[in-house]
Order: sequence, then structure tokens, then C-alpha cells
Amino acid sequence: MPPVERIRVPGGARLDGEVRVTGAKNSVLKLMAAALLAEGTTVLDEVPDILDVRYMADLLDHLGCKTERMPGSVRVTVPAVPGNEAEYELVRRLRASICVLGPLLTRTGEARVALPGGDAIGSRGLDLHIAGLERMGATIESEHGFLIARARGGLTGATVVLDFPSVGATETVLMASVLAEGRTVIDNAAREPEIVDIADMLQQMGAKIGGAGTSTIEVEGVSALAPTRHATVPDRIVASTFAFGAAITRGDVHIRGARAEHMDLPLEKLTAAGADVTVEDDGVRVRMDGRPHAVDVVTLPYPGFATDLQPLVIALNAVGEGSAMITENVFEARFMFVNEMIRLGADIHIDGHHAAVRGRERLSGAPVQATDIRAGAGLVFAGLVADGETTVGGAHHIDRGYPAFVEQLRGLGADVGREPDPYAYPS
Ligand code: UD1
Repeated sequence: MPPVERIRVPGGARLDGEVRVTGAKNSVLKLMAAALLAEGTTVLDEVPDILDVRYMADLLDHLGCKTERMPGSVRVTVPAVPGNEAEYELVRRLRASICVLGPLLTRTGEARVALPGGDAIGSRGLDLHIAGLERMGATIESEHGFLIARARGGLTGATVVLDFPSVGATETVLMASVLAEGRTVIDNAAREPEIVDIADMLQQMGAKIGGAGTSTIEVEGVSALAPTRHATVPDRIVASTFAFGAAITRGDVHIRGARAEHMDLPLEKLTAAGADVTVEDDGVRVRMDGRPHAVDVVTLPYPGFATDLQPLVIALNAVGEGSAMITENVFEARFMFVNEMIRLGADIHIDGHHAAVRGRERLSGAPVQATDIRAGAGLVFAGLVADGETTVGGAHHIDRGYPAFVEQLRGLGADVGREPDPYAYPS
């Protein structure tokens, strides 16, 4: 396990300069799982150096693969028959481990995946994954903390209508369907750019997929796939995080590698807050001169405003001019970190899935605790615009999703640092 550290954040910083964004966490973990669908060596490029990639590599190694990590890339060599049991000790660190369920089931006819852990941001059920696989002929049981999925005679194509456009359930059914017998239709599918990225890679491997990026994905099953080489789509959440960081700190940040077409709503909200947003050939530049205006936000599945950015927009509003209402529609417990923002002097009232934020000119530095990846980033930015010093405990949460976060902030002129957390208790 990584050492327990906290991030020391001196207040009064202004972010100024350039950062470069690499591949998306929420794509690369699934691309690594998708490699399981073909025997041989698949190479992924633009791989971010984050803890979750290490955790996924450990899980694949445990399943009999050989993963090699090089700077910016991962090679995954998959045996003819991968193992089929993902045990709790590996899965609990990473909820995204559930994405091995579809590939293992379709490759081996049986998958045993421990029920996952991951961020403490809500109940995060698996009912839609299960219902989708059952529609395709799998039988699924839950025993001793494991989900056990069986499809001895193989999976059969089916029409799967998702109750909610769940990212994970769309990916599970998509990855299970590419080697199934016949045609699968996923209706009310998630439309995130990361789904399109996985579909692109699967197509390079020989899968027949239409409609990725729309609400209806159609898949014609094939008998085998071949390994491939694929570059991960840029991380729109990391890119938007720095865009918000520029606005919160009244700075000027050029985010190289950002794909503006995946950031429509975040960039629109930043413009409404008064930021000057310019789309450039190789990324996006965000500059904020005065105090931001408070902006209302409602989180929704893509192309709606991403729930992952909700802590960032709360941090922006906490120092904004005026009041705003934030409505969280995706993860019910994602407001958990708000108590930590209040410790920094933010004026926030929660009522169910709404948060009313009244902006303050300055926040007030204090020790706080990151509860998940994005909350951690939001707290660091809030600390940058607080009087005095803030320490953000649970730095490992941030490491799960942001490569070299502290180094990147230092490159933008913030004098942040890492140090052992003397008050940490093992989690
Ligand atoms: C993924 C992202 C996460 C992002 C989220 C929404 C990864 C590793 N994580 O999570 O960063 O915030 O998409 O954009 O890619 N649900 C059910 N039953 C299910 C599946 C989901 O009730 O079977 C619920 C969840 O509890 C949640 C909502 O649906 O309330 C959205 O979940 P989903 O879209 O599946 O998110 P994840 O894939 O877990």
C-alpha cells in the first residue's frame, strides 16, 4: 500500500502556465480489461501514471496475464485461457475491477468477481450489469462476497434496455457482446467519450460495433478478436479540473492535449462564471481576471455536466460572487466532502441532492480530508484560495486519478508539497 500522505497547500496562489493531459483514467482501466478479449499482446498508449492503473495491472497479472508498464504505455499479454477469479483483496481497491466481468465471462464461460469497493460516493449498485448479462443468457449468483456469472454454452445476443445510462453497465454489456452469438442492441446506452474510445479499440480488434456515442449501440458478435495497439482518449475530467483550477485561482492555464469537444458544458459554465476560454489547436486555455460569478449546475450523464466535476464547481462557487444551486443526480453521496469545504469556511447548505452555495471573498485554511479523487482536487483548489495553510489528508485518493498532481500544480506556480500525515489512520 502507498504511504499515507497529505498535501500541504499554502493559500493565496494563482495558477499560471501550462499542463499536459494524458489518457483518461475512466477509459484506460476498461481498455486494459478489454485486452482480455484477445489472446496475445495488446499495447495501450497515453496511459496516465496513476495508482488505479497499477491496481488494474495487478488484477490482470493475477488473472494470468503479464503486464509491463513503460512510461506512458502498458503492454498486456493475455494467455489463451485467462483465470476467472478476481479476488477481494485486488477488487476492493478499485471499483472499476467490475469491468473484467464481461470479458472473463465471454472468454471463459464463468467469472467470479468479488463485489467491488472504490470511492465512498454512493451505493453504486450492479443490478444493471447483472440484468444485462442475464438477458444474454448468463446465470448470476452472489455468494460469499463474490458475483458468480456463468454462461457455459456462451452468451447470446439480445436487446438490453438499461433503466439508466450507466457507464459501467454499458461497458459490461458491450464487452460481453462482442464475442456473443448474434446481434446485441444496447438501448439507453451511456454516451461518454470513454465508451466511444472502448468501442474504437474493440473495432480495431475485429469487433463489429455501430452507434457508440449514441443512445443505441448495436453489436454483431464475432468468433474471435485479435490484440491491437491503441492510444487512450485524453482525460476530459483532468482537463476540466485544471480549467476550474484556473478560474478558482483567477489564473491563466493552457491545458495541452485537452479535447474541447468533450468539455462543452464545463467550458460553457466557466464562460458563464466570467472566464475567458479559448480553444487552441493543441488544447484549451482558461483565464480568469476578476472574481468568478456563481453558476448553477445540474449533474447528469454525458453530455450533461459530469458528476466528477461537481466538487470543482462547488469550490468555484464557494469563492464566487453571488449564490448558486448545485443538483447532484448521479451519485447520492457525492456531497460527503462538503463538510470538509465548510471547514475551510465555505457557506454551503445541503438539502437532499441539492447544495446551495453562497460565495465568500476568501476561504480560511484548515486541515481537511479527501474522501474521493475529485473531492480531493476540489479541496486542494479551495486551499489555494484560502487564507493561511490547508492540509488535505488522504493524498492517495488524488493519486488514484491525477498523475503527478502536486508536480503539475508546482509547475503552475503553486508552492504545494507532500508530507507524511501524522494523524492518518490506515484505510
Ligand atoms: C463511472 C466513472 C465515474 C463517473 C461515473 C458517472 C469509471 C471507473 N468511473 O462510474 O468516475 O462518476 O461513471 O459518469 O469509469 N447504478 C445502478 N446500478 C448499476 C449501475 C449503476 O444503480 O448496475 C447507478 C450508480 O449507483 C450511480 C449511477 O447509476 O448512482 C451511475 O453509475 P455509472 O454510470 O454506472 O457509473 P460508474 O460506471 O460506476
